[in-house]
Amino acid sequence: MFFNFFNALKKWIKFCWVLPMAKIQIIVGTVEGTAWKAAQSAAVIMEKLGHQAEVNEETTPQDLLRDTNEILLVCCSTTGNGEIPRNIYPVYSALDNEVLNLSGRRYGVIALGDRGYPRFAHAGLLLEDAFYRSGARRIGDILTIDAQVEDRPHFAAAIWAKDWVNDIGHELH
Ligand SMILES: Cc1cc2nc3c(=O)[nH]c(=O)nc-3n(C[C@H](O)[C@H](O)[C@H](O)COP(=O)(O)O)c2cc1C
Repeated sequence: MFFNFFNALKKWIKFCWVLPMAKIQIIVGTVEGTAWKAAQSAAVIMEKLGHQAEVNEETTPQDLLRDTNEILLVCCSTTGNGEIPRNIYPVYSALDNEVLNLSGRRYGVIALGDRGYPRFAHAGLLLEDAFYRSGARRIGDILTIDAQVEDRPHFAAAIWAKDWVNDIGHELH
């Protein structure tokens, strides 16, 4: 019995030791706060899993360059007719104009929207394209959250984030 216990403990310590901690900056694009709440929930779960996560709702282009070890997670809603929320537009503009070089960086995307609109989750997809063109490479699949079917977007974001940080672990290993 003791042997089993110590074996299990050894395995757990080894697991914790080899699992690298990631630093994640969550870049929020929001109009009414839904994406911000989703970002907060994702950050909570990431921290619980031993990672560092910071939610940035007023991201400047320079914030993306402040630490090259940071993994970037976009969490962005869509407004207007497929448009990018004003608070994240400077980041999109810098990426779109190829002012930022994010070669070697990793990122993820949570795109919020509503399928009732013709351009579903379009802002998140525009940012995905801009990140890709800047040289960064995506980890995992894009999470799209449809307001028509998901009445707890923050919950969906947290569940997705749990698997996403797992994918990060594999990437960093
Ligand atoms: C004025 C307005 C325009 C919107 N336009 C779109 C759109 O073009 N495409 C889309 O997928 N969702 C659209 N949506 C839905 C929002 O993206 C969705 O409700 C999202 O959860 C809102 O997140 P936020 O509170 O963080 O801004 C729109 C919502 C509003 C209020």
